[in-house]
Amino acid sequence: MLDLGQIATQLLRRLDPETAHEIAIHSIAYGLAGRGKADHSALKTHALGLTFPNPIGLAAGFDKNARAVRGLAKLGFGYIETGTVTPRPQPGNPKPRLFRLINDHAIINRMGFNSCGIDRFCQNLTPLFRPNKEGHVQAAGVPLGINLGINKTGADPLTDYPALVGRVKSYADYITINLSSPNTPGLRDLQEVDMLSRLLEAIQTAHPDRPPLLIKLAPDLEDEAYGPILQAAIDGRADGLILTNTTLARPESLTSSHRTETGGLSGAPLATRARDVLKLVADLNKGRLCLISSGGIESGRDILDRLKMGANLVQIYTAFIYEGPAALTRLKQELLQEMSRDGIRSLASLPR
Ligand SMILES: Cc1cc2nc3c(=O)[nH]c(=O)nc-3n(C[C@H](O)[C@H](O)[C@H](O)COP(=O)(O)O)c2cc1C
Repeated sequence: MLDLGQIATQLLRRLDPETAHEIAIHSIAYGLAGRGKADHSALKTHALGLTFPNPIGLAAGFDKNARAVRGLAKLGFGYIETGTVTPRPQPGNPKPRLFRLINDHAIINRMGFNSCGIDRFCQNLTPLFRPNKEGHVQAAGVPLGINLGINKTGADPLTDYPALVGRVKSYADYITINLSSPNTPGLRDLQEVDMLSRLLEAIQTAHPDRPPLLIKLAPDLEDEAYGPILQAAIDGRADGLILTNTTLARPESLTSSHRTETGGLSGAPLATRARDVLKLVADLNKGRLCLISSGGIESGRDILDRLKMGANLVQIYTAFIYEGPAALTRLKQELLQEMSRDGIRSLASLPR
């Protein structure tokens, strides 16, 4: 039998995707979307100097303006990544810009960093923090990542990213610099090694006291490009990589009528490439940087495979859109079953 959350998720699927998204954000922010059970201790994960109750995070782009962090944490995510936030507010691309490819278990989006801007974003975060003796404590109860981007026009990445890091460093448990959205012209060029090195140096010089810094990469680079980027990230004192953002590729297997829409493809058809990029980078990484795997994760088996391949944590987005909060309960149950099948008593005991 369907529970209330599942019924609500089915109803939302009948609405246009952006309206459904707005309703979902508001319901979650007001605590109407329910609460997950406490996590099994076997799922506890340590990474980036932080402790995560489970390794399943919400990927960036769902709560772009940090409006529902506490409600999302209650649903049972092991951590939440908010953003992408840009320096100045901007509306993003004209609608429609979000398409469900239901038969393909996929989404195409060309949102284009619709953002309330960093000032409003920080105001939205303020109620999440309570003062204490050490400064302030974050009340969501799970680690909070903040994902940073640049405006479509008038951007200067070498100034903008350090400035954004300065604005969010006291709120974030980790910070992601997003260099891989396909919908902001020129953004993916920042993955080029010389530019990346200059960017990391500018951030490091301005904010040596920052929280852990991750770089989110595209799946559409040549295989040979990932090694030098990994090295530049290590040399530039980054702490991790998120692999991967959405793809511009359109696998032959897609059947939905929206498959020709412009934008980034996420969900099941991204899984193979996201896994391949993870494997490639994890083999070179040898445990030096924290790796977060994102792209087409739909089952507990997917999660365990990615963790065994070298990911420290995973993130989901499209599966959460299609299944709602029930996805988390299912994924965690399946993950525990797969762990017991593989003789893994706890995620903390996985070799790194
Ligand atoms: C509608 C939508 C908006 C997104 N917005 C962002 C964003 O603002 N910043 C970002 O780094 N990734 C963004 N992403 C990418 C996701 O964070 C995630 O990396 C990607 O969807 C792959 O995971 P999935 O296959 O589980 O969806 C977005 C994805 C979707 C579907």
